[in-house]
Amino acid sequence: MEKYIPVVVIKKLEETCTILKALKASGIYSAEITFRTEYAEEAIKLAVKEFPEMKTGAGTVINGEQCKRAIAAGAKFIVSPGLSRDVAEQCKKNDIPYYPGCVTPTEIMEALNLGITTVKFFPANIYGGLKALKALSAPFPQIKFIPTGGINKENMEEYLAYDRVVAVGGSFFVEEALRK
Ligand code: 3PG
Repeated sequence: MEKYIPVVVIKKLEETCTILKALKASGIYSAEITFRTEYAEEAIKLAVKEFPEMKTGAGTVINGEQCKRAIAAGAKFIVSPGLSRDVAEQCKKNDIPYYPGCVTPTEIMEALNLGITTVKFFPANIYGGLKALKALSAPFPQIKFIPTGGINKENMEEYLAYDRVVAVGGSFFVEEALRK
């Protein structure tokens, strides 16, 4: 999987191509377009069509209905701030990776029961950062993490250096890419 997962919030549909182009120019070939705005579904469709070489997924997917729409729009992966059994089932049915937000052992156990082995650790900075992530990973050798929330240029390498971290997510990737 891609090491960097930019959290993208589309406020106007026209921004989609500008943002994906900027990400690509910074060497980032992934985008998590969030269902935080009404444009998510159309933006995913547009991104998939215009940037087929990029891995476009859907973020902030909080129920099965949004998940269905995201998959129909062409999302290649699904991310949630927490864990939704409905979303997990939809993803399994469609053979699409699902990264649910998990910050407690119970949530990780639930993810494992659903056949999920990579979870989003969110909000990483609030739930104890790398120290907490390491403690949480000890009883679950089969689990990999995508810390997200409060990740920035300064701390991302430290997270990525830990072998149980497969990727980092964050909105700062978009801000950085647009600044260039
Ligand atoms: C998310 O939904 O993953 C977060 O809003 C990203 O957090 P950040 O803005 O601190 O990167």
